[in-house]
Amino acid sequence: MPHALSDLLDRRQPGFSLERPFYTDPAIYVADLQDIFYREWLFALPACQLVKTGSYVRLRIGAYDVVVVKGADGQVRAFHNSCRHRGSILCAASQGQVAKLVCPYHQWTYELDGRLLWARGMGDDFDAAKWGLRPVHLRELCGLVFICLAETPPDFDGFAELARPYLEVHDLHRAKVAHTTTITEKGNWKLVWENNRECYHCGGAHPSLCQSFPIDPEIGGVTADGGASPKLQAHFDKCAAAGAPAQFRMEGDGQYRVARMPLNEGAVSYTLTGQPAVRRPLGRVAIPDAGSLLMFNYPSTWCHFLPDHSLTFRVTPVGPQETEVTTTWLVDRDAVEGVDYDLKTLTEVWLHTNDEDREIVEANQQGINSPAYTPGPYSSLEESGVIQFVDWYAATMGRARGPRAVAAE
Ligand code: FES
Ligand SMILES: [Fe+2]
Repeated sequence: MPHALSDLLDRRQPGFSLERPFYTDPAIYVADLQDIFYREWLFALPACQLVKTGSYVRLRIGAYDVVVVKGADGQVRAFHNSCRHRGSILCAASQGQVAKLVCPYHQWTYELDGRLLWARGMGDDFDAAKWGLRPVHLRELCGLVFICLAETPPDFDGFAELARPYLEVHDLHRAKVAHTTTITEKGNWKLVWENNRECYHCGGAHPSLCQSFPIDPEIGGVTADGGASPKLQAHFDKCAAAGAPAQFRMEGDGQYRVARMPLNEGAVSYTLTGQPAVRRPLGRVAIPDAGSLLMFNYPSTWCHFLPDHSLTFRVTPVGPQETEVTTTWLVDRDAVEGVDYDLKTLTEVWLHTNDEDREIVEANQQGINSPAYTPGPYSSLEESGVIQFVDWYAATMGRARGPRAVAAE
């Protein structure tokens, strides 16, 4: 129902939550996939997750099925997980390691770089060179892998140039995965983002996170002109002087943002005590109280990079009212569990926080499902980040629909 969606976008009241169909309607969910998730760059995984040659991860984004695999040359590539013979998926597991990509149906065998190596009984005039796997666009940025499903991807360089100096100091090429979880939240993907973009709820909902994460609207949002309070500016300046860029910057029409934000006084990491979670730090942030580099890139990721470890989050819609959130904890590859870090101490704050957020999002969805729901006002003080996200969403969906056609008489 493209017409109805255009009408809903046209009559949207800025500063208010969206009308009910945006969070419930299967047709708008499909439009969100087509106009956002099938077009934009999406965070796939930290490159270090693919440890060995042939390590792969299978990702499903709407109707698409993608395999991201590490080649013998160390390059990470992405392919559509669909055989060029009659279309079977190649990789059924969510992750694994293979010598070659072999189709389970008739055993067409592909090299890890996508070339078709072998196809039984196809005759002498069969040209295997024409039947390699269909590639998916992929870019690696400082150890973070992004993919794009579009034939012609949008610009990636603007984001890469903005984020690179902030990320470099975290040495993600030296990382290993300490832990990863995928949870399913029974809520529309936009509710997951709206919840992420404010800390209005944090004081009441997140006792563990609040041990280190300040309940301060400046963290989740920003003043309209991107300005910082003198105290926050002093933090940015201190980090920059120590070689860890920190200044808040939001670009790409508000699609992505970086800022190294302070933690609570005395806290240096996301632990219940505020003490470091890892003794052997991941990265070269020279001051322990640099806080957390917060980076988001709509629609697929927010990440936190700390002086001792890093966290990536991947957001994947799986239905109009269902969203997967994958969290990955990264530590230095030489950090030894039980010696340099304790897995419970490292993970407990965000395991709690994710579960608390899941409950919040699910309760939000249930209330919106009632016909009695009507859009409510966002707090300009506490929810400027939510306003920013919803404005970005509406502008992106509006652009995809183009200028409204003038109705013919
Ligand atoms: S469908 Fe893959 S080999 Fe036939
Ligand atoms: Fe939260």
